[in-house]
Amino acid sequence: MSPSLSLRMANSVAFVFVFVYLPLSSYFQAFHAMAHEWPAGGSTRFYDFKVQTMRVTKLCNTKEIVTVNKMFPGPVVYVQEDDRIIVNVTNETPYNATIHWHGVRQKLSCWFDGPSYITQCPIQAGQSFTYEFTMVKQKGTFFWHAHVSWLRATVYGAIVVYPKTGVPYPFKQPYEEHIVILGEYWLRDVLQLEQQVLASGGPAPPADAFTINGHPGPNYNCSRNDVYRIDVVPGKTYLLRLINAGLNMENFFAIANHKLTVVEADAEYTKPFTTDRVMLGPGQTMNVLVTADQTIGKYSMAMGPYMSAQNISFQRISAIAYFQYLGAVPNSVSLPAKLPNFNDNLAVKTVMDGLRSLNPVDVPKKIDANLFVTVGLNVNKCRSKTPQKNCRGMNNGTFAASMNNISFIKPTISILEAYYKKIGGQFTVDFPGAPLQFYDFANGAPNNAPNNTQAINGTRTKVLKFGSRVQLIFQDTSTVTTENHPIHLHGYSFYVVGYGTGNFNPQTANFNLIDPPYMNTIGVPVGGWAAIRFVADNPGVWFMHCHLDIHQSWGLGAVLIVENGKGELETLPHPPADLPRC
Ligand code: C2O
Repeated sequence: MSPSLSLRMANSVAFVFVFVYLPLSSYFQAFHAMAHEWPAGGSTRFYDFKVQTMRVTKLCNTKEIVTVNKMFPGPVVYVQEDDRIIVNVTNETPYNATIHWHGVRQKLSCWFDGPSYITQCPIQAGQSFTYEFTMVKQKGTFFWHAHVSWLRATVYGAIVVYPKTGVPYPFKQPYEEHIVILGEYWLRDVLQLEQQVLASGGPAPPADAFTINGHPGPNYNCSRNDVYRIDVVPGKTYLLRLINAGLNMENFFAIANHKLTVVEADAEYTKPFTTDRVMLGPGQTMNVLVTADQTIGKYSMAMGPYMSAQNISFQRISAIAYFQYLGAVPNSVSLPAKLPNFNDNLAVKTVMDGLRSLNPVDVPKKIDANLFVTVGLNVNKCRSKTPQKNCRGMNNGTFAASMNNISFIKPTISILEAYYKKIGGQFTVDFPGAPLQFYDFANGAPNNAPNNTQAINGTRTKVLKFGSRVQLIFQDTSTVTTENHPIHLHGYSFYVVGYGTGNFNPQTANFNLIDPPYMNTIGVPVGGWAAIRFVADNPGVWFMHCHLDIHQSWGLGAVLIVENGKGELETLPHPPADLPRC
């Protein structure tokens, strides 16, 4: 064992003590104490993640779930801007695992990004892998999650990155900070569920419950006492770090009688924007300020569905947590929060309109690579001899999803490894910069057989020169159904310069090049489009996909390869020695 490795492990051991042995309740309380002891910037933070199964009882049902360090949600990673993070991940389960650090731009550290078969092979049972990366000029609320199969359903946790020492928030220091992670919970084994859904060709069943920090709240069967609660002092202001770690649903969030002031979206400051509710797609994070300025009482914090697609069954019962004033009668009923209707597209647009970068930003004005990418669902022809079993999609076909009508198929080793070591046969470089066929995407798509709704399968990538200024227009299609898709790009944040309903029209599209939000996951409006811009200055292999896992499983993704530039600071280093093998 090398000296540096043993040093690493010694540090990890100290860390395990903090996180593994604290019960869940004290882990949330411990957070408050930690929030005020900001570590000095530029240091190295060690974490030890053991992927382990754990028995939990929820909704009167006991099952094994996969967790990190037997915590659900998993341990919080607390660091400071510019810190180096070293996480040793050991897989003690029989399943494949990887961890992705969602929103972390992984400057020159693509090997540690985490999506399985894109930047690494999964960490197999009994194996371990050490992730090492630096939070280069990044701070705010992020999260980590498993990035293989549907393991993310229970394998997730927050990453909180504080500003450098002495740098205040651009708003009044809150009295306390709380992490609020939205999730979805299934009574069934999620790995088996994914396999069954894919084998059926049909839709994914809804979650059995939504959860807030792992707790469904009192609205479901047998969950009356499984409620998360924040105790608040009247008159004080709280910072809530909202994270949507859900699998297949977008969600509204609101607190009864209280306004939310958004100050950060996807770990970038925004102009303060006050609203009654917000919407987060899976993969999105948002910091909101809430002032306890109402009469003393117990208020509901609610998470409910935003479903923009047609004919999809989904969980309609809201998860509830309590926002409880000191001095409130403990057993009093809580005041209900008002959530928008599940299909309130206007409520979603209002939140999006409110997101503006805090300061003027440096948006690329000239574009070197202009891509037009349709996002949507497909129905493929049934190829099974047992269609009743395997072709349960629309019109007796199988559901698929695609970008530019190409369903992404995972290779057998990681694309990054194949690219770096020049191993052939794993991927192609012909992802098209525009759909092969143009039609009325938003309204006139062929929804019915015998019209062709078939997607092409492929592991296609788009190669970009280092430093190219990229514009991507995402266009939702109505094949099967229009739907808001939360599209996530690894390795970058991007400026959301425009969005709208219907088909994208360069003549009429309105772009904000002054203060667009800088995000990593954009909800492409239902039946509409969104335009993003960024400079491709981080070499590597970067996954771009819908963060609804069922869509990802169906192929709604593509890969951008960014070439090396000149010199060491523009070149991806060698792979780490312990990179997992397939
Ligand atoms: Cu949060 Cu590729 O994912």
